[in-house]
Amino acid sequence: MPTPFAAQIDLLTGAIDSAEQRVVSRTLDDVNGIFARECHGSELVYEVFNLDVPELNSELQTCTTRLHPGRVGDEYYMTKGHFHEVRDRSEIYLTTSGVGRLLMATASGETVVQEMAPGTMNYIPGGWAHRSVNVGDEPLVFFASYIGDAGHDYATIEKRGFPVRVVEGTDGPTVVANPRYVADA
Ligand SMILES: [Fe+2]
Repeated sequence: MPTPFAAQIDLLTGAIDSAEQRVVSRTLDDVNGIFARECHGSELVYEVFNLDVPELNSELQTCTTRLHPGRVGDEYYMTKGHFHEVRDRSEIYLTTSGVGRLLMATASGETVVQEMAPGTMNYIPGGWAHRSVNVGDEPLVFFASYIGDAGHDYATIEKRGFPVRVVEGTDGPTVVANPRYVADA
């Protein structure tokens, strides 16, 4: 059982002052395969700063994500995306800096795309895979909180992809169908 704690979050960078955090960094090499084109290199695509608590459904995990600006081909930098291992576990995002899109999809391919901008709160119900995309020139920074035992299933998205992609079009960020997407049978 955790004791009460507090942490200071830098809203522009997502950095957390706590010594207790666990940092996950993803480079271009780490995310190779999520874009239509291959990508390689040690350039950082995103970082997640986690304040871990016991993985129980009585607790709330919290983290911040800093998703850097950039593109692979015409696709904006994005997170790997995941379902929760325990499928019905929900999550909320609060964007604190930058602009992005939140892609959400069910196993059967129903898709919702929402905007992310400072002050935007996005609610991700259980059963919806989620991936964020930075469509701006600055880091996209958001705070997230989710049920403690949710866990992460990245493999399903790695295998099936997302139903849509966000690409740079002539009028800015454009959502297009992903021809490689494989719906759940
Ligand atoms: Fe999640």
